[in-house]
Amino acid sequence: MKKLLSFFFIVVFVFNVDAQKLPNIVILATGGTIAGSAETNVQSGYTSGQVGVEILINAVPQLKDIANVTGEQISNIGSQNMSDVVWLKLAKRINELLAQDDVDGIVVTHGTDTMEETAYFLNLVVKSKKPVVLTCSMRPSTALSADGPLNIYNAVAVAGNKDSWGRGVMVVTNDRIHSGREVVKTSTTAVETFMSPLVGSLGTVNYGTINFVDLPHKVNTSETEFNVDNLSSLPRVDVIAIYEDAPGDLIKAAVDLGAKGIVTSGLGNGNLTDACIEALKYARSKGVVVVRSSRVLTGTTGRNIELDDDALGFVASLELIPSKARVLLRLALLQTSDPVKIQEYYNKY
Ligand code: DGL
Repeated sequence: MKKLLSFFFIVVFVFNVDAQKLPNIVILATGGTIAGSAETNVQSGYTSGQVGVEILINAVPQLKDIANVTGEQISNIGSQNMSDVVWLKLAKRINELLAQDDVDGIVVTHGTDTMEETAYFLNLVVKSKKPVVLTCSMRPSTALSADGPLNIYNAVAVAGNKDSWGRGVMVVTNDRIHSGREVVKTSTTAVETFMSPLVGSLGTVNYGTINFVDLPHKVNTSETEFNVDNLSSLPRVDVIAIYEDAPGDLIKAAVDLGAKGIVTSGLGNGNLTDACIEALKYARSKGVVVVRSSRVLTGTTGRNIELDDDALGFVASLELIPSKARVLLRLALLQTSDPVKIQEYYNKY
């Protein structure tokens, strides 16, 4: 009997020691296809945000070999309905958890439609060097060859790796590790949809084996001046698409509806029709900050190329595509409405 008890205590002790060696990772679920379900496992139609975080975790029993995982449900929505309410709840909860000594990293499960915005927003407002990793899936949890479970496994592996510290908020999907600032959805259906077309990915993760090849290129997380602790809302910033013969009506409407900033999804190097330029002058006369970005996916939108930004009082988005430029402008407007100062933000963040 004594031998049996001793064996039992040794097993418990060893198990505890092993558990103590594993990183403590919290999975915060927001919804998306990764939590989606469909009637059959071979159909394209499905409903996202159907499956809860505990089911997502239990679908990957191998997680217990690489981390001590707990889960919280922040929301359960298709990310086309992501909102400032969820953004601020998520950011504040991440900062609360990462301030705890017994939390080593965070994984956020998220829909793919707005993950590029959420990842960049968190990259600017998380106040910790600990890893925060967003992940997703292009196929619902019920699909044949669902991509969600392995994405979750890899995301937890990255979030639990000491080498991930200080790399800003990351996105892990399809065996790639991306910077939250650089990543963008490039295909409406393909599993390999997420890319970082301007600078490439930060590295790869293959069944939990990580190979980093780069560091983030801009200031992020603990080093930024942006803080959401006391925020309950964010300034309205609208993105206006520019196209052949585009009138200025929508720009004026955005101003009259209370936009504090406008990002144009311009042509080529952020170019605009003359009618839109006139409407943006109206916006400037009302104190609205104007950021020129481009519908072109790579390259940069530079200052004073085909437009005199200095004379017009415009800001150029430089590397940031419209979806990202809007995120930065919303946070910048919490600090200043001076376009010269805001241009410095686009150089820095
Ligand atoms: N409803 C979309 C979303 O939640 C589905 C896209 C996905 O998650 O793959 O973003």
